[in-house]
Amino acid sequence: MSDTSRILCPVLGQRIMSAAEAAELIPAGANVGMSGFTGAGYPKAVPGALAERIRHLNAQPNAKPFRINVWTGASTAPELDGVLAEVDGIEMRLPFQSDPICRSRINNGTMDYVDYHLSEVSQYAWSGFLGKMDIALIEVAGIREDGSLIPSSSIGNNKTWIEQADKIILEVNSKQNAKLEGMHDIYYGTALPPNRKPIMLTDPADRIGEQYLACPPEKVIAVVETAAADRNSPFKPSDDVSKRIAEHILDFFNKEIELGRLPKELLPIQSGVGNIPNAVLEGLDSGPYKDLTAFTEVIQDGMLKMLKSGTLKVASATAFSLSPDGIKEFDDNIDFYRDKIILRQQDISNHPELARRLGVIAMNGLIECDLYGNVNSTHIMGTRMMNGIGGSGDFARNGYLSIFVSPSTAKDGAISAIVPMVSHVDHTEHDVKIIVTEQGLADLRGLSPRQRAHEIINNCAHPDFRPALIDYYERALHSGRGMHTPHLLEEALSWHQRYEETGQM
Ligand code: COA
Repeated sequence: MSDTSRILCPVLGQRIMSAAEAAELIPAGANVGMSGFTGAGYPKAVPGALAERIRHLNAQPNAKPFRINVWTGASTAPELDGVLAEVDGIEMRLPFQSDPICRSRINNGTMDYVDYHLSEVSQYAWSGFLGKMDIALIEVAGIREDGSLIPSSSIGNNKTWIEQADKIILEVNSKQNAKLEGMHDIYYGTALPPNRKPIMLTDPADRIGEQYLACPPEKVIAVVETAAADRNSPFKPSDDVSKRIAEHILDFFNKEIELGRLPKELLPIQSGVGNIPNAVLEGLDSGPYKDLTAFTEVIQDGMLKMLKSGTLKVASATAFSLSPDGIKEFDDNIDFYRDKIILRQQDISNHPELARRLGVIAMNGLIECDLYGNVNSTHIMGTRMMNGIGGSGDFARNGYLSIFVSPSTAKDGAISAIVPMVSHVDHTEHDVKIIVTEQGLADLRGLSPRQRAHEIINNCAHPDFRPALIDYYERALHSGRGMHTPHLLEEALSWHQRYEETGQM
């Protein structure tokens, strides 16, 4: 026992073993619910040991491939998704991922991937159609005397996994800041329909649950001690494009405040994963705002800066998603941050009822958007998975304002983010309210599809692609077909086809 101070429950202290021994307890074909959300709070040791075991077993003559199904909160890190995907150890993965090896396996057909709205995963697990969860593998910051668990830097689906799994393996990570204790709010009032009750949260700062995860000690089959930091990539520094996107959003907010349509503290903000949403937060921090709130899924570096400066007074989320510098800033100043950040399970942080009640301002990235405001957040050229829908749909569909942001072009100008028709739809024209590129902002509220096309082409498209978009739209308009949402069906996806053939839209 190298660090007993984090494992205070005597019964569970007797189940301490090595990661390799714990990995032996995971059988082939198991459904394993793992902790981890956007590179925070994922198990650091057992997945690697399991990958080693899989590599060894699969190298045996006539070996039957050893694979498991991996359910998480969201994306994890190379020590989980990366190592297991590398040995072809994942049969099916859900819900969100952003690992390059997973991505390549998903896209070459050697890994199945189920991409759900993050708020919905736990209800699907509860409803039973995903199958029985055999093992939960959960990182925690500590085990209390009574066996309850101090959650780590993310909560994600951990509450559900612990409740649903037959057996539990805990990783106790002494590198996680001990002062995380008390920052969590685990709500035990969820139920399947028809037994649901209103969730009594009316302010992002509300606490409605418990600080600890309840865990039946008899289900715990192994406790593994680790001491490793969360691993996340640094964000790209804000560039001209992201600064201009942020400026357009700030102008828009200021006008809405002037018109009396937003309070001066705005409404609770949600900001998605990715470089551009993080840059938008940095832009907001340089604006005139004070005492904003966040009801969001992840705390990124930009949000720490906003808390530090007083732009933001409180942030509710399910996980951190910090760069190495962000982790250091948080650890060094945790006493400042700990009463300003509340971590909840993802079925509460992303709950549609709460996003709608609070009137969240949702800001998420897009891959492409079409003339009428349909948004593709997940698929490259209609077929290749990028990351997944994550929580973008939870917030965009139910928020008060759904804003989608992107540079107007990708891959050095070869690809237009504004296309005649999206090659995959994640967010429909009915959910998308504002599109922003560095070129400008399209406010689609109250506009018909044809009015939206003008707004999007004129305000958001890159000038290199604008004439071709106008040409497409005009010809569709005069094609003698339906005038509500004019399209030339034979050409609608020709931009994508051209890119696949020539490398240029
Ligand atoms: N075609 C091909 N590639 C495209 C593209 C397009 N239309 N648009 C963007 N890309 C590529 C970029 O070139 C970049 O590739 P690189 O990593 O090789 O440089 C990559 O996608 C990321 O684009 P970037 O412009 O840096 O934006 P981002 O980091 O903000 O990510 C999304 C944008 C859409 C991929 C990201 O926001 C996402 O995964 N969204 C879905 C999940 C989500 O919204 N969750 C929110 C709740 S937390």
